[in-house]
Amino acid sequence: MNGNKDFLAVILTVFGVVVFVGVFHFFGDELGVDSAYPPANVMLSQVDQGKRISRKCLPCHDLTSARRFTRVGPPLWEIVGKPAASVQGYVYSRAQLRARQDGVVWDEFSLDRYLDNPRDFIPGNKMAFAGLHLGAERKALIEYLKTLQDPKESRMAPLIDQAILSLSAAEDSSSFVERVKRGRIESEKCGACHDLGPEKKNIVGPYLMGVVGRPAGGVLEYPFSQPFKKAVAQGLKVWNTKNLDDFITDPDAVIPGTKMIFPGIKDDQRRQDLIVYLRTLK
Ligand code: HEC
Ligand code: HEC
Repeated sequence: MNGNKDFLAVILTVFGVVVFVGVFHFFGDELGVDSAYPPANVMLSQVDQGKRISRKCLPCHDLTSARRFTRVGPPLWEIVGKPAASVQGYVYSRAQLRARQDGVVWDEFSLDRYLDNPRDFIPGNKMAFAGLHLGAERKALIEYLKTLQDPKESRMAPLIDQAILSLSAAEDSSSFVERVKRGRIESEKCGACHDLGPEKKNIVGPYLMGVVGRPAGGVLEYPFSQPFKKAVAQGLKVWNTKNLDDFITDPDAVIPGTKMIFPGIKDDQRRQDLIVYLRTLK
């Protein structure tokens, strides 16, 4: 009798563990948390396609390591999320260095424009490449370039992030357009200190165009406070929807002593809508 009960207990425990592990795997994947790169929501075929297209870059760029130089161009390992002209040890053209001063960061948007027509995006730069004129090719290539990094690097946070955002978007039944509209209204609170437009002016705070996916403190010509720089040195790397959400909830709690004097937005829905809007600032 007792033996039977024990046996039943063992069976139930094993069953419980199997279900638990299964559920964890499923949701772990959904969130992109700790699952292997690439996150489940990135279409593999697109990455593969991008890899094929990247052969066009190989005569001039190494894509396997941040430190391996060809005789022509800088290595492209970890290029996504980096400020322009920031590979140590590579001699850039003056035009490319100026782009860095202008705050160009290699996010999806600027890569897309640069790869479409390098000479048009950064006049006078020395990349002798006519450009990829098909949007779909550039998109695939950029998806591939995103994979050129150590999987544990926080640069991939924006990707993980997309999964989280699409989850929360699914919970919210209102349309994307509605959320963007509400977010834009919410952003008027930021407009007192931040330029959100294409002019990229630094006023009281740094400009916010392209902030989602941008390195924190990456606006070179803006004088960030010491506490802010310390937070960056201690590992605040790229603004993604998660850390931006935390920061906007209570800036001083995330970066004690920051000179962004703002009480924070406590309402989850308003913050999320604002972030949906900020993501459109490209
Ligand atoms: C004919 C050689 C050549 C080819 C082909 C080429 N590039 Fe370049 N690329 C360069 C050079 C040279 C630079 C440096 C530009 C400068 O300093 O003005 C550069 C710069 C870049 C930069 C900016 C790097 C930085 O640190 O700011 C990116 C991004 C880039 N290339 C991507 C690509 C991609 C992606 C491809 C393939 C679709 C490609 N390039 C094809 C020569 C090339
Ligand atoms: C009262 C002025 C003020 C308001 C209002 C304000 N900010 Fe800021 N913000 C700043 C200042 C100043 C900094 C620089 C912080 C530092 O150096 O410590 C900053 C920094 C930031 C950064 C870091 C940018 C970077 O390049 O790393 C983000 C992101 C940001 N603010 C977002 C927002 C958002 C979103 C809102 C609206 C909800 C907002 N801020 C409202 C003044 C403000």
